[in-house]
Amino acid sequence: MTEMVELIAAKRDGRRLSDEDVSWFVSAYSRGEIPDEQAAALLMAIFFRGLDRSELAAWTTAMVRSGRRLDLSRISRPTVDKHSSGGVGDKVSLVAAPIAAALGAAVPKLSGRALGHTGGTLDKLAAIPGFRTELAIDEMLDIVERVGCVICSAGGDLAPADKRLYDLRNATATVESLPLMASSIMSKKLAGGAGAIVLDVKVGSGAFLTDPDQARILARTMVDLGCDAGVPTAAVLTAMDAPLGRAAGNAVEVREALEVLRGGGPKDVIEVARAVSAQMLALAGIAADPDDAIASGAALRAFEAMVEAQGGDLGSLPEAPHRRTLPAPRSGVVGRIDARAV
Ligand code: URA
Repeated sequence: MTEMVELIAAKRDGRRLSDEDVSWFVSAYSRGEIPDEQAAALLMAIFFRGLDRSELAAWTTAMVRSGRRLDLSRISRPTVDKHSSGGVGDKVSLVAAPIAAALGAAVPKLSGRALGHTGGTLDKLAAIPGFRTELAIDEMLDIVERVGCVICSAGGDLAPADKRLYDLRNATATVESLPLMASSIMSKKLAGGAGAIVLDVKVGSGAFLTDPDQARILARTMVDLGCDAGVPTAAVLTAMDAPLGRAAGNAVEVREALEVLRGGGPKDVIEVARAVSAQMLALAGIAADPDDAIASGAALRAFEAMVEAQGGDLGSLPEAPHRRTLPAPRSGVVGRIDARAV
């Protein structure tokens, strides 16, 4: 208890915490040995004072160690994971993962459900009748080895300390702390065990971060965390002022991803999926052009094979039961669509 008071006071006064202090706090809190009021005070001190690179590395490592780290050593191809910080209409994973898989990478993508105003990749896939998002590790590894990509739930045993700390951050207005965000995202990605990580950091009215400078700092912090942990990591910063593409919602986004995989679809989705998959291929050491995987139909086949392997039936994607056309009150050109409002 005294130790915890000293830790809070040190951070409150702007002093750095030792690696040992940081690891002790994260593991003791995740075991329920530190009361929420003390942990909350430390989070607020971190919100104002930050964590330096070495404190942050220790914090993230301790979060990874709070659970298990997936062993992907039996996958024969180079593995690469992809993460988005979340946006409106963001179906990029549904396109980029099969592109990378079609060109020789293995993408064991662990995803989450919706967070705040942004939809989750798992919710989108769950709109496909029969699609299973919860897979046992062995089945997940079998699918990724056979098909090249799998998108499933992260499961509660990866970085469980993040779950406890995230709930506390939500309750204490400290979600927006950049180091806490970076360690939350990267602890889950590092626990996923992939050989490389590509981050799509969204910036704009529909993203968690609206300020490009903040988004750049978050991206740089996460890239450093990945690289410091020995996992090559790259980030792209992409605009999230308007919804990505023309569909926002679960089944409609799966349909739009299929359109892109068939060689059509909106330009902005194509552009972001191309940029993200190009980074995934580069980090996997594969010299290939994402456009070839679309043109040849190989990316579409990889997506269909993944959905089938996870029990989904793309032929019976639901249609919206209610539809309404909103006619424009006068002629003109749509200049802006606010993502957050959508
Ligand atoms: N996503 C996460 O997983 N954690 C954060 O802190 C923010 C977004």
